[in-house]
Amino acid sequence: MTDAAFQQCISPACGGTFGVDEVHVACPRCGNLLDIKYDWSRLNPPKTLSFFENRWATKGTGTAGRNDFSGVWRFRELMPFYGAADNIVTIGEGRTVLQQADLLARQMNMKPGRLLLQYEGLNPSGSFKDNGMTAAFTHAKMVGAKKVACASTGNTSASLAMFASLAEMRGVVFIGSGKISFGKLSQALDYGALTLQIQGDFDACLRRVRQIATDVPELGIYLMNSVNPFRLEGQKSIMLRILEARDWEPPDWIIVPGGNLGNSSAFGKAYAELKELGLAKKIPRLAIINASGANTLNVLYSDRGMRWNGGKFDASVMQKHYAALDEANYHPHTIASAIEISRPVNLPKALRALEVMNGVVREVSDEEILEHRAMVARWGFGCEPASAASVAGLRKLLDEGTIGPDETVACILTGHELKDPNATVKYHTGIDMKSVQDVAPRTDPHGKLSNRPVQVDDDLEAIVRAMGGEPGMLKGKKIGASKTHVPVAEF
Ligand code: F0G
Repeated sequence: MTDAAFQQCISPACGGTFGVDEVHVACPRCGNLLDIKYDWSRLNPPKTLSFFENRWATKGTGTAGRNDFSGVWRFRELMPFYGAADNIVTIGEGRTVLQQADLLARQMNMKPGRLLLQYEGLNPSGSFKDNGMTAAFTHAKMVGAKKVACASTGNTSASLAMFASLAEMRGVVFIGSGKISFGKLSQALDYGALTLQIQGDFDACLRRVRQIATDVPELGIYLMNSVNPFRLEGQKSIMLRILEARDWEPPDWIIVPGGNLGNSSAFGKAYAELKELGLAKKIPRLAIINASGANTLNVLYSDRGMRWNGGKFDASVMQKHYAALDEANYHPHTIASAIEISRPVNLPKALRALEVMNGVVREVSDEEILEHRAMVARWGFGCEPASAASVAGLRKLLDEGTIGPDETVACILTGHELKDPNATVKYHTGIDMKSVQDVAPRTDPHGKLSNRPVQVDDDLEAIVRAMGGEPGMLKGKKIGASKTHVPVAEF
């Protein structure tokens, strides 16, 4: 490997390396997740984080102006895979706010200045996903991709659809029928993505889109889910912005909701790299919060003691758990639809992040999520239910004494309050607008830009046809990505 930026398998036993000009959804040698790695000795990382401060002052619509305006790319020396600066696809993402939430802190019995809320819902598409999409679209552009796709609980699809439209690529989104909030569905339709409503949940959608991206190359699909390691490079910037807002002083804790575990994985990678570069004063502790109805990480980490263990984790613990879920025909269920995921694809990377950041995992009930969501709205800017899992998790960690009264905590609020107004209206009025909508009479849409979603069975042939492909494309193919679509190779 000669390039200073490259892809590498996370399994120490494999360690396969691949160029950044290659497209993989998993390690082609062993099937594990891939990382983006840097040979820093051949790059030019900054000597101090304050190096980035001057970027605020750049003005203009040229390449430097656009890239410095982005809350992701103004840190580009810490994600230098993009080759030339004009490869960068940016829509002005990442200009988010770290709020010192003293009013909410009072409700949580915390001292003023101790509770910080990082509002990632202030991104252009209303969620943290834009941080990752800007990086993955940059890579898609570098490799000449024309069609991009993802499975989604809603926010990834909204973000993908917005970026695809603005980057003039064809966007296809796979969503579980009835599984995403109306705010998010409306975005995918509005931004013009082909919206496939698959009869199944998120885990089923992800399995299908991975099969399409890997095994049906004729469709030319570039995969935008967080198994795409380039996405996580962009999501590292959330940690950098929190540091920036605090004059480069890390908080004691970072708390984040856990779904597919892309964010937590990216946070761990950010701090591992800052440490490697001598740029981290200290490493905050990480708390990942599951919803009780989608608690795979908490079961595996807290109950079964699964650890990264320097890369030698015991994959059989995970496999046994998934086999039991399959046997019981278990499907996750939570009001926090964004994190309704029982087979998180980034699990190994999240275990690594928990090791790097001396982390803990907890789960919270739907009731706790709803009450804390309402509190963030009443005493802050508001957020969607999944985001409030972080604040509900904070309450739990304070109550049990894991987080002390003098510690400073940053909760990541991953999505905007307006993403899921049904949850809010139901909380306050008892009326379930979603079920009212389900029985409302339908008319054919006839707007000039109407973009109807397409209902499709959880069936590969039907999906290929809905994407404009020929069923013959599947002939004689061995389709991979079995039910347990998590890397299973030995570490
Ligand atoms: N919060 C929100 C609002 C989300 O949309 C998601 C993930 C998460 C938290 C979990 O983040 O996967 O990095 O652990 N939403 C994905 C989607 C799965 O399809 O929009 P994670």
